[in-house]
Order: sequence, then C-alpha cells, then structure tokens
Amino acid sequence: MSEKVRVLIPEEEVERRICEMGKEISDQYQGEGVHLVSVLKGGVFFTCELAKRMTVPVSLDFMSVASYGNDTKSSGVVKVIKDLDEAIEGKHVLVVEDIVDSGRTLRYLLENLKRRNPKSLKLCTLLDKPERRVTEVHVDYTGFQIPDEFVVGYGLDYRQRYRNLPYVGVVELDS
Ligand code: IMP
Ligand code: MG
Repeated sequence: MSEKVRVLIPEEEVERRICEMGKEISDQYQGEGVHLVSVLKGGVFFTCELAKRMTVPVSLDFMSVASYGNDTKSSGVVKVIKDLDEAIEGKHVLVVEDIVDSGRTLRYLLENLKRRNPKSLKLCTLLDKPERRVTEVHVDYTGFQIPDEFVVGYGLDYRQRYRNLPYVGVVELDS
C-alpha cells in the first residue's frame, strides 16, 4: 500500500491567509501586546509564521497536551505533557493551534488556562472542521474552515509524518 498527499490548500494560499490574520490580530491587540501559547507539536509551524506577521509586542510559551485515543480520533481525556514555563496571570493570552476537530482538546486547554487568571484568553486556529465538533469551543480567529477530511502538513501529522509539508494536504492510501 502506498500513500500520496493531495494538496488541499496550497502554500501561497496558506501564507497569504496567515499574513491577513497577523494584521487582523495585531489590530486587536494594538497598544497592548500578546502572549502566544503555542500548542505542541502541531501548532508550532503556524505559530512561527503568524508571529512573524505580528506588529505588536509578542511573547511566546509552549504547552503540550495529549488526548488518549487512536491515531485519528481523540477520546476527550486530555493530559498535560508539558506545562507552560511562565505564569499567564494578567496577560493577554492567545492560544495558537493547528486544528480544531472534535473540540475536546481545546475545551480542556482553555478551561485549564482560564483558571490561571489571564487578562484575556482567545483562540486562534489555522484550520477548523466545524462538522466534527462534539463539544462547543469558541474560536476567535480561524484561518480556513475545511471539510471532514484527515489533513496533514503545516504542523499536522499522520503517524508523526508530514508535519514539515509547506501546504495542507489530504493523505490518500492506494493499494
Ligand atoms: P480535537 O480534540 O478532536 O479537537 O483534536 C485535537 C487534535 O487532534 C489536534 O490538535 C490534532 O493534533 C489532531 N487532529 C485532529 N484532526 C486532525 C487532522 O485532520 N489531521 C491531523 N491531526 C488532526
Ligand atoms: Mg494539535
């Protein structure tokens, strides 16, 4: 069996959209600055590209969570693998994620962060699969809404591969 990746969102389109988002988000935090919380590992590629387009002061921290489940589905039981290095109390926090799928991971993460009393807490995701949502999550900034397909690239993996693709694609298995 071989795998192929079909391009869903080409590199230029992803870059153009991230550029737009950088402007929009910078406008909203004008005069204040923002503390980006990047969700490892998938959120890292998007976080870097977005941060490069921001024109307000930016600080960065990372968090890693794992949701128990199989390769392509999360179970809803989430565990913190790596916590933030710094406190977020009193900061304008923007969580940066690769994708919101069922919403379970983000739901857990946002509730966890809210208890630490940030000045504000928002969510930014490169991709959103609204059809798949099982728990409500408010997304403040979305790059692209996509159909219910398993995607890779731009940080997203299939069995830890393809994160480095500079575009978003769909893995196709042909036998
Ligand atoms: P959720 O908790 O179901 O919203 O899913 C969260 C995590 O599942 C994401 O942060 C991704 O790591 C992973 N995930 C969901 N959909 C995809 C996909 O289409 N491709 C790769 N990873 C995905
Ligand atoms: Mg992720």
